Amino acid sequence: MRRVTSHSIEVAAPGKVNLILRVLDRRPDGYHNLWSVMHTFEFADTVVVEFNGRSGIRLTCEGADLPTDSANLAYRAAERVLARVRRRKGLRLHVRKRLPVSAGLGGGSSDAAATIQALAALLDTGWSRSEMAQLGQEVGSDVPFFFYGPTALVEGRGEQVTPLQLEAERWLLLVNPGVAISTPWAYERLAAVRAGQVGRMPGRLPRLAVDHGVEGPQLVKWHDLLPLIENDFAPVMEREYPVLREIRELLLTRGAQTAMLAGSGATVFGVFGNERSARIAAEGLDRRSGWKAWVTRTQWNPAPVCLG
Ligand code: C5P
Repeated sequence: MRRVTSHSIEVAAPGKVNLILRVLDRRPDGYHNLWSVMHTFEFADTVVVEFNGRSGIRLTCEGADLPTDSANLAYRAAERVLARVRRRKGLRLHVRKRLPVSAGLGGGSSDAAATIQALAALLDTGWSRSEMAQLGQEVGSDVPFFFYGPTALVEGRGEQVTPLQLEAERWLLLVNPGVAISTPWAYERLAAVRAGQVGRMPGRLPRLAVDHGVEGPQLVKWHDLLPLIENDFAPVMEREYPVLREIRELLLTRGAQTAMLAGSGATVFGVFGNERSARIAAEGLDRRSGWKAWVTRTQWNPAPVCLG
């Protein structure tokens, strides 16, 4: 978070991948219970929040043609914060969009979380992470996670977030074939496919090998997590869009330790041990018509070193 002036703050809004995404039962409120390990990476949007003397919220977006009213999650987040603090301040919100939209990378949710964080700081609300996450939950299911990143186990509709520590860093190659997948549609497709599979038993949830010996968030190692990476949307979306499977297989042949669909798609990520191998694997990918590729490093907080 960077305070630009006394009434303006700039916040990075990183994207995420779901290293594991299990979609469980459909709930009476229409949402699905989830069991997901989510992890942020450095490639990010930027959100700038500034109070001005006017009234109302004015949102501008650079880098993507997005709605600038309450259909935009950042706008909705700002509305919620102002309603909660009962302030009718004039506000300018500017989103520098880099993350692809409707891509499974959580860009809109991260912009919303960044907006809440920036406003809470500017207004000096003193809100805790969990208070901000509760507000975020009203804006979207993926928003609470971003207050607990870089890594967390996410359950319920998305509101039950348990921070994890994932050691150490990896490099991701993100490839998007230029297809936009709407999240509600993806959930509907998944539910329809499951409804046709009579007698299907829900698979067992993976067991995370965690190190209980450490203080703070439980420690998970990439080495243990890599074989567990899966996404319930992947087989369904790969059938809808065979190009997604083509990309996943291409990433594997180009040396990815694993490759998987991000969220409900349509971005596919490959995991690499270092930057060089990710960049070599990326070569030429964005020459394919409509395809875009990005190399980014995963975020992680090294545990504080105990000097005693
Ligand atoms: O909460 P959000 O607005 O991001 O969710 C978008 C849609 O995705 C919901 O309307 C619902 O159809 C689906 N969804 C779900 N279960 C979740 C999260 C989202 O069914 N846990």
